[in-house]
Amino acid sequence: MLFDTEPKTSLSDLFGREEEVEKLKGGLNERLILILGIRRIGKSSLILSTLNSLGVDYAFVDVRKVYDSSTRKVYVEKLLEEIYSSLTKLSKKAYVRNVFEKLGIEIEYPVRVRVKDDVKDSLNKVFEALNEIGLRKGKIPIVFDEAQYLKYSTLGLRPFFAHVYDYMRGITLIVTGSEVGLLHDFLSFDEPKSELYGRYYFTVELKSFNEDKSKEFLRRGFKEVNVEVKESVIEEAVKELDGIVGWLVYFGKLYLEKKEEAIEEVKEIGSNLVREELKELEARSPYYLLILKAVASLGKARWKNIMDYVTASTGKRVSNTTLFRELNKLKSMGFIERNGEEYRIADPIVRYAVLK
Ligand SMILES: Nc1ncnc2c1ncn2[C@@H]1O[C@H](COP(=O)(O)OP(=O)(O)OP(=O)(O)O)[C@@H](O)[C@H]1O
Ligand SMILES: [Mg+2]
Repeated sequence: MLFDTEPKTSLSDLFGREEEVEKLKGGLNERLILILGIRRIGKSSLILSTLNSLGVDYAFVDVRKVYDSSTRKVYVEKLLEEIYSSLTKLSKKAYVRNVFEKLGIEIEYPVRVRVKDDVKDSLNKVFEALNEIGLRKGKIPIVFDEAQYLKYSTLGLRPFFAHVYDYMRGITLIVTGSEVGLLHDFLSFDEPKSELYGRYYFTVELKSFNEDKSKEFLRRGFKEVNVEVKESVIEEAVKELDGIVGWLVYFGKLYLEKKEEAIEEVKEIGSNLVREELKELEARSPYYLLILKAVASLGKARWKNIMDYVTASTGKRVSNTTLFRELNKLKSMGFIERNGEEYRIADPIVRYAVLK
């Protein structure tokens, strides 16, 4: 069902991403695939639906789930647990168990983890086991969803990724990121000192739906549940929520219950969700929220407007270098978009939450 709020897991529920699906399928023989796009744009849905449609075995790890927001760390032990747990979904259970036993890793269903050796060694062993399966039965995709959080891992994982990239031909690494810049930071393809320097990677980028597609999405969703909705309501919703599919889904679902009040309701519930993300930002730099406020209050803002706003709010002048750096970080995290000389907030609900 289109208005289901969980990530889609089947192509029959995935709307309007035919090109991206084909592209992803075409890349599955590569070593490393990056799926990029802001939050709620449909990254997880794209991967899950595509891989499920192929009927291949794969491992899927949601790194955000493992991120500990109080210590701001990703504990590798937890990450391993997630990997183990995702392996229980593989179809070749007996085969997997066999390989794992051979490697001295105990795995039980339901999963209980015993990381006996050191974690680095265990991680290596798991990947070696998967690689072995991949080499025999066809490349096995290993997905790190929201991989930018790996930057906060208790163990530097980039050398490990480079090792997998270079030596494990049975594995295709797929990483997704809403904080595009952070993902690049973590992988550092352009940094000569980085273990992944100069490696080729395949990208699939997800953009917002355009106006027509967004409207079509809502019409189709309502038709699916046999609800008649006035065209003016659809227009209003798309105007307020843009083509971010996650918000459109929320709206569709809420409309069934709240009718015309649904748009306001999405904005309320949505901004509560977003507030958590903003808190996280606030903890990282005192300027992020100020910059977002400057841009949000003006709709579209130029460099000078932002500088004036920040100066007025803090009562002191910020250096150009600092402001430029913080603005760029917001851009690379996907919060702000730049169009020529103007900056705007990419997600209308983030704009709304910031203004509240
Ligand atoms: N192509 C699509 N067709 C229909 N629904 C979709 C599509 N893409 C995403 N959705 C829906 O939009 C919401 C967000 O999707 P998803 O979780 O896949 O996005 P995401 O980019 O991984 O977001 P997040 O940043 O929260 O991880 C979910 O409710 C999902 O069901
Ligand atoms: Mg996701």
